[in-house]
Amino acid sequence: MRVSVYRKEHFNAAHRLHSNSLNDLENKTVFGKCNNENFHGHNYELVVRVTGEVDPITGYVIDMKVLSDVIKEFILNKFDHRNLNLDTEEFKNLNPTAENIAVVVWDILSKQLDKKYTFKVWLYETERNFVEYPAAD
Ligand code: NI
Repeated sequence: MRVSVYRKEHFNAAHRLHSNSLNDLENKTVFGKCNNENFHGHNYELVVRVTGEVDPITGYVIDMKVLSDVIKEFILNKFDHRNLNLDTEEFKNLNPTAENIAVVVWDILSKQLDKKYTFKVWLYETERNFVEYPAAD
């Protein structure tokens, strides 16, 4: 019996969207306000979905406390209240778009979660804009 469980977490971070492959005008055109060279912040909402078999003894797919602790230790401690461009190795050379953040978060969690699970992340950059990784069909 496979069931999906969801954990929602929150972090605040600053970023600047900028591509070295584009000139200044092109960067402004593509990224608009998000290209502001003095950075700006977002209140990110992160949803992690873990899918697996319900353990017959515990009745759990995964202990939510364990899932929460993994997200806190490996994602929130790294990104919360940071400048993603300046303070994190992951985005020194990678544009910190919601898309790229979601992929980085997934990659980090994939090293921490048991291989028996499949999982997916949703990252909300605003209430109206959010991304999903791995991609929907
Ligand atoms: Ni932004």
